[in-house]
Amino acid sequence: MKTSNATGIGNAINRVEGHLKVMGKAKYATEFPVENKVYAQSINSTIAKGEIISIDATAAEQAAGVLKIITYKNADKLKTFDEAMPSVSTDTIAPVLQSNKIHFYGEYVGLVVAKTFEQAQYAASLIKIEYKKDNSAVIDFEKSRSKAFAPSKKSDYSRGDVEKGLKEADEIIEQTYHTPIEHHHPMELHATIANWDNGKVLVYASQQMLEDAAIAISGTFQIPTKDVRIIAPFVGGGFGSKLNLNGHVIMAIMASKMVGQPVQLTVTRNQMFTNTNMRQKNEQKMRIGAKKDGTLTALSHEVLSHTSTTAIFQEPCGMISKMMYNVPNNLVKERLIAMNLQTPFAMRAPGEATGSFALESAIDEMAWKLKMDPIEFRIKNDSQHDLHADKPFSSRLLVECLRIGADKFGWKDRKEQPRTNKKGNWLIGYGVSAASRNAPFQKTNAKIILKLEEKKVNVTVQMDATDIGTGSYTIIAQTASEYLQIPVDQIDVQIGDTDFPVTPGSGGSWGAASYCNGVQSACENAINKLKVNRNIKKDKTVPLADLLKMNQLTSFEAEGSAEPSLEFKKYSVFSFGANFTEVWVDKDTGMYRIKRMVNVASAGKILNPKTAYGQIIGGITMGAGMVIAEQTKVEPNFGNFITRSFADYHVPVNLDMANVNVVFLPEEDKIANKMGIKGIGELGITSVAASIANAIFNATGKRMRDLPITPEKLIEAGLEPGISA
Ligand code: MOS
Repeated sequence: MKTSNATGIGNAINRVEGHLKVMGKAKYATEFPVENKVYAQSINSTIAKGEIISIDATAAEQAAGVLKIITYKNADKLKTFDEAMPSVSTDTIAPVLQSNKIHFYGEYVGLVVAKTFEQAQYAASLIKIEYKKDNSAVIDFEKSRSKAFAPSKKSDYSRGDVEKGLKEADEIIEQTYHTPIEHHHPMELHATIANWDNGKVLVYASQQMLEDAAIAISGTFQIPTKDVRIIAPFVGGGFGSKLNLNGHVIMAIMASKMVGQPVQLTVTRNQMFTNTNMRQKNEQKMRIGAKKDGTLTALSHEVLSHTSTTAIFQEPCGMISKMMYNVPNNLVKERLIAMNLQTPFAMRAPGEATGSFALESAIDEMAWKLKMDPIEFRIKNDSQHDLHADKPFSSRLLVECLRIGADKFGWKDRKEQPRTNKKGNWLIGYGVSAASRNAPFQKTNAKIILKLEEKKVNVTVQMDATDIGTGSYTIIAQTASEYLQIPVDQIDVQIGDTDFPVTPGSGGSWGAASYCNGVQSACENAINKLKVNRNIKKDKTVPLADLLKMNQLTSFEAEGSAEPSLEFKKYSVFSFGANFTEVWVDKDTGMYRIKRMVNVASAGKILNPKTAYGQIIGGITMGAGMVIAEQTKVEPNFGNFITRSFADYHVPVNLDMANVNVVFLPEEDKIANKMGIKGIGELGITSVAASIANAIFNATGKRMRDLPITPEKLIEAGLEPGISA
């Protein structure tokens, strides 16, 4: 890849902030040298439901360095929810330590502030809390099915008549797919340094969406949003866990208010299981009907999942089933059980990542039943119209993704009959799946500052965007470089500060499209103003340095803003992709290897193939993690998680990962936005799990519908010859 002296968009340049990161100079939330800061350690409940009846903090109060112990008894009074079960969003308030009631194992029950981190941790260990346990805690998902409720009026969707469609079908697949609780576990722990100064709040915090985090803080403390400043120039991964504001930030601010000093609080890896979101367990019942010729007649997707007892979050697993295929009769139902576990929240491709496992496995099952090639079956049911939104897709190159991927992967060498491709002890299988992910774009503001220094123009870009490891710095610099015709090394990107122009932050795959179109607008405004001042025609190319000189300026500022057009709203805007996987399964032990994968992505204009490739392989790795290892298990008596560290919550490592070949289709979607960008942050994970599970079926003849697919489960399914479809 060309990486030197490159400029503008579309080039595979190295990350502009890469050097800082490698040198350890990129400052993460708790690395800021804030004067006078003290440290806090939070305390977690050891029951799942009940109430605190006594707190003995005598020993902790006398421990060295302790400045304050905060519990519900002395905590600052915060805004609490007006309704019983509010739906959580990215700007939802986060009241904490407001009562003696316990709703889940690990809920925050106290905070110790001390001069050093070690003193705070030690003192926290000395606090004795007595609880009155309520034995009615809802911990067992299996036993609580009858308590399921519809989370909102929108939880049921239907078009046509699914039951009629099933009657018209020649073949029916009716199967249930299971995905477990998963945790995000970004490399950088959730952490903050917070300072309360006379009602003005300054926090360094690892957050994905700064404006929404500021709204959540202002709402919780009932102070104006303008009095909240959040700084997060570097965020060490988020995957959704840092979209919303979690309780630790509120506790740190409260503690600072109470001790009159800045307070640093880090959520430990262990606490990240209980206090910073999770993906919930999903049980997905699929019913699909098709004619002998492969025409889909019905698609029903019913999801049973869980939320907490205090708030609602529904992962929209059924979303993908509403728009993916040309099926006239469609039903999607979502139900939740309120459990005494923490409130789940968005995790990378919420809905699609898990929903596509069910949908794309079931589609594969139907293709097998119809004796159709699974690629041809998908292509037969492709739709250029989004039947759910009743709008045309702005662009949908799914067929191209499947065809090009099949060619790159060598799909023609696949043996249709399972257990026929063998090498020694290995059973070899090929699997395919189709992917789609909403490609949103949201209002974004940006500011650029031009400075003429000698003959060079140096540019500063400012916006409250975040770089969660995705490459925002780099693509923002490339965009400014492209539209100002200035080399990247003369562009200084300043992001991660709510003092800068408002953006939607990083989440939901909207970051790249939103940020870059905002920057493009600021660049265009700057040039146009400089030209208008000197009566230069719009389409005449004048170097920026000359433009400034002609205006007798050595510095100039301009702002810009981009938002979805009226045209955008007339279309359904999604990215599409296809995944191909080859697995080798040991016929005796059930151990398997993901040998190679091909991903084809149609995601509009690719701003930087190198960072985009990083996004896709990151997504694919998380998708593989869903299949080979990731799961958080609930202890059935206490409601604690059994998997509480990286020793037992396994994620893929390099050795687990295949040779991954990523292909980006050349595309610009000008309906999506002016620059033609669609998102790729979440496309990469979508349907990866199904492509691996489908490959395992092709290898072994065993249909695995319960993630993760461990060797034990494969052995239980019976690895002896025969097909159990
Ligand atoms: Mo994402 S789950 O919007 O970080």
